[in-house]
Amino acid sequence: MIKPDAVERGLIGDILKDITNAGFKIKALKLTQLSLSEAETFYAIHSKRPFFNDLTSYMSRSPIVAAVLEKDNAVSEFRNLIGDTDPSKANEGTIRAKYAISKGENSVHGSDSDENAKIEAEFHFSGREILF
Ligand code: CMP
Repeated sequence: MIKPDAVERGLIGDILKDITNAGFKIKALKLTQLSLSEAETFYAIHSKRPFFNDLTSYMSRSPIVAAVLEKDNAVSEFRNLIGDTDPSKANEGTIRAKYAISKGENSVHGSDSDENAKIEAEFHFSGREILF
């Protein structure tokens, strides 16, 4: 996902360019907005964390871009491209180092495993919206 802070600042094109320049193929793409309850479902794994309410209200406050991406070792390659959750710790040149505002408003989300990538792709897209 390209998150609300990045969409609000007009960064969709820059971030998609970084993603495709890094060799990812876009298999599905959508501009949409999460309701609060959809954000709570998407981030249910963090429901006991102190930042959960801030996270879900931020993620539902304005549009996001959802994407399904393809590359060999896509999960780890994408995490390398986006950098650390905390932009002050993210390597130079990573998407979060370049664009993120804070640990919470960190511009992009990437799945943390192949299993979660499938779950998250199916959260955002119906079968016929994903190209194979
Ligand atoms: P993301 O990769 O989408 O996964 C969980 C999100 O929770 C994370 O990016 C941040 O947006 C947010 N997050 C994680 N840790 C913190 C924190 N310590 N304080 C605030 N938000 C956080």
